[in-house]
Amino acid sequence: MKETTVRFLLILTSMLGCTTNQGASFTVSPNRSQFFEEDFVTLSCVEDNGSAGWTVWRNTTWETRTQCTDGWGKPAGSTCNMTFLFPSDSGVYWCSSREGAASSSINLTVTGGSVILQSPVLPVMEGDDVTLSCLTKNTPSNLPAAFYKDKVFIGKETSGNITLHHVTSSDEGLYSCSISGHGESPSSWISVKVLESTPDQILSSASSKLHVFIHLVVFCPYLITTLLMLSIYQQKNTGHDLHTSVVTTSSSEAE
Ligand SMILES: *[C@@H]1O[C@H](CO)[C@@H](O)[C@H](O)[C@H]1NC(C)=O
Ligand SMILES: *[C@@H]1O[C@H](CO)[C@@H](O)[C@H](O)[C@H]1NC(C)=O
Ligand SMILES: *[C@@H]1O[C@H](CO)[C@@H](O)[C@H](O)[C@H]1NC(C)=O
Repeated sequence: MKETTVRFLLILTSMLGCTTNQGASFTVSPNRSQFFEEDFVTLSCVEDNGSAGWTVWRNTTWETRTQCTDGWGKPAGSTCNMTFLFPSDSGVYWCSSREGAASSSINLTVTGGSVILQSPVLPVMEGDDVTLSCLTKNTPSNLPAAFYKDKVFIGKETSGNITLHHVTSSDEGLYSCSISGHGESPSSWISVKVLESTPDQILSSASSKLHVFIHLVVFCPYLITTLLMLSIYQQKNTGHDLHTSVVTTSSSEAE
């Protein structure tokens, strides 16, 4: 009887665990996934609940699982500065916590050429308008550019920008651009996040935050109080059955 009660309390405690899940998301500044050689970029892990200890990691074609402190960036807290990019810095980047949790990953491409495509680093929301720009290294103003999706020509724009209206999952793919006389950009993958139903998502995100709040404010003190009272009862009535103590505690709690 006593053993089962203790086991039940242990399961209850771990289920209500007084810590919440950790999470982090990525920000890239400037916010694009292609860079020229010699450019700089700042990568930051934005922590969901203020817990420290997130660092930026990467895989490149010549090295896997190295972190900012390994020499390729200047770390500052959860931020990593890369001040002089090389094509060999192209790769997959992600944030990882000391405990081993990882964020979603992003692809960065550094080109030795003179044309890049400015496209969103993070997945775009279904229904959004997405503007892609074709940039040259040595020309400050935009030049007319041709745009490609999965190597297929999708349009030529004198402004150097193309807008994809109300994107859907069919807009996902590898995008690139070219500027006549300057060359072609590398390709970057654009992914579209499909929303089942917008109001539901907002509601569920709000209710999950509310859940965490109620959990922290109500359940943890309740659990600690109950355990404290239980141990006091145990000390007072060592002869009593533990189960009776639990019942007494619960009813006194209800009052
Ligand atoms: C990085 O490389 C390691 C080792 O090859 C691999 O296990 C891991 O999945 C890679 N991470 C990402 C985010 O691609
Ligand atoms: C990182 O770069 C940003 C922007 O260039 C700068 O404001 C910040 O001071 C830099 N941090 C470090 C540690 O170099
Ligand atoms: C990164 O690039 C690889 C190879 O091109 C691709 O398979 C992967 O889906 C890309 N990941 C993201 C997050 O865009």
